Amino acid sequence: MFEFDRTRNFTTMKVHCNNMFTHRVKTFRKVVCFFRSESDWEPAPVSFSPVTDDVNPSARFVTVSLLNHMASAIKCQYYFADVWMMFSEITFQSDTAVYNTTLAPPKTGPPTSTQPGDDPTHKIDDSNTRILIGCLVAIIFILVAIIVIILWRQVWQKMLEKASRRMLDDELTASLSIQSETLTYNNNNNSSSPSEQESNSTYERIFPLGPDYQEPSRLIRKLPEFSQPAEEAGTSAASKSSQASTQEGVPHYAEADIVNLQGVTGSNTYAVPAITMDLLSGKDVAVEEFPRKLLTFKEKLGEGQFGEVHLCEAEGMQDFMDEDFASETSDSQPMLVAVKMLRADANKNARNDFLKEIKIMSRLKDPNIIRLLAVCICSDPLCMITEYMENGDLNQFLSRHEPEDLMALLSNAPTVSYSNLKYMATQIASGMKYLSSLNFVHRDLATRNCLVGKNYTIKIADFGMSRNLYSGDYYRIQGRAVLPIRWMSWESILLGKFTTASDVWAFGVTLWETLTFCKEQPYSQLTDEQVIENTGEFFRDQKRQIYLPQPAICPDALYKLMLSCWRRNTKERPSFQEIHRTLLECPD
Ligand code: ADE
Repeated sequence: MFEFDRTRNFTTMKVHCNNMFTHRVKTFRKVVCFFRSESDWEPAPVSFSPVTDDVNPSARFVTVSLLNHMASAIKCQYYFADVWMMFSEITFQSDTAVYNTTLAPPKTGPPTSTQPGDDPTHKIDDSNTRILIGCLVAIIFILVAIIVIILWRQVWQKMLEKASRRMLDDELTASLSIQSETLTYNNNNNSSSPSEQESNSTYERIFPLGPDYQEPSRLIRKLPEFSQPAEEAGTSAASKSSQASTQEGVPHYAEADIVNLQGVTGSNTYAVPAITMDLLSGKDVAVEEFPRKLLTFKEKLGEGQFGEVHLCEAEGMQDFMDEDFASETSDSQPMLVAVKMLRADANKNARNDFLKEIKIMSRLKDPNIIRLLAVCICSDPLCMITEYMENGDLNQFLSRHEPEDLMALLSNAPTVSYSNLKYMATQIASGMKYLSSLNFVHRDLATRNCLVGKNYTIKIADFGMSRNLYSGDYYRIQGRAVLPIRWMSWESILLGKFTTASDVWAFGVTLWETLTFCKEQPYSQLTDEQVIENTGEFFRDQKRQIYLPQPAICPDALYKLMLSCWRRNTKERPSFQEIHRTLLECPD
């Protein structure tokens, strides 16, 4: 009895038989086939009697016509022609496919042997076909998805290229006009200094937003105007630095030598001139080792890729701190401190960066820069102990508060007065004045990187990009650079130039955030791509750029200050000294 997977239209049955008649083995004398379609057996079977052959003893197929009977099961009765019947294979042919079945032993006589695969016909199994088709469909889907992703990336790259090419065209026009000395550079910039002429050719050689976009600080080194020493084109910081180097012994700072220490606990630790790093490579760290057993864990303040920040109580911290700073703190009570801890499993690079961060931070001593108090580096895990600012970061602090208006008064919401907002902005300017005097470039000034203590005191820190809360503030360029584009100057985005002048731009945005109580992201109505397009408009300076609007509580004088931070020409932006003075002079 042969059962099939479904009802089929049977044409023939082939029985492979032995015919060694001298050994009394013969093909069958007769076969009667019964057919079952659905559940009933057909009353009329098919019977067939092959011609017996007493001449040729070789095995052969005996073909039985099944007369196109429709059946899902066939029962066959084979009749002996002699003592033995020996079948090796029985195959059925139906209209659509050929089915091979394994033999059951005959009811009488010795067991028959089977020879699978004897039949040269290509055999198709329906369920396998379905799996095969499924796999092919899945592969096609995956290929289509890959093609869509590739096309999408190409379209996005083209958009960037288009934006950059438009700028390149403008730049070429400008450079031609300078060469012929008949046309002016643009409406607002009639006199082109030699340094500007040099920087024009930048675009003709390499454009950072093209497919070859590179991490800015690496890219900039390739440009001839930046491979020269510090007198680089168009940055007020560099010209100031060359003066500073002679006047105050401040290290000479070339933009091309910026060492970016971003990495360990996710922070940038400010961009540091390489020469400063040489000074720092000495053994001396200007802070003391603190016995970690005197730290009592209170709560977790934050977490980054490379470690955690804990709020701790430190016993006797006053004995370990600088005298100037210890005098600011109260008596011998345990002191609340923030402890930044490197993960125990951090790799060697992360450890080195953490130690470098300590060296740099230990030299920054200003009332408006977060102070490194002590360290635990004699054993693992490496720790930095910084002062604790009880009101968290400025972004979250302001988000929880409202301006002092009628609405807030009626709703009893916590408020911050305009004069306190201005006070906080003034402290940020003061901290930045200190950093810029050392030629430190922060690169990521924003309210998220400022901490708030008692009585609206502000200290600038740098948490880097590690906090999930602010991941939306950073834009990833094709999986490479991660940039806070909404705070970045046009030259930082397009040329990879990070200078004090670009910190000034970021200060303007930070001031805007402060006066809007961080209720929305800068340029919230623009997508990241549109922000980059707008950067192109800042570069072209043809009055098509979109500026952040004047906040409701912002007086005209302060908005004027903001706008001056966003001037196209870096030299025309105010210094932090000027910004600080302007803020102090602004009426409350
Ligand atoms: N989170 C990270 N560092 C901090 C600090 N120094 N004070 C308060 N919160 C923090």
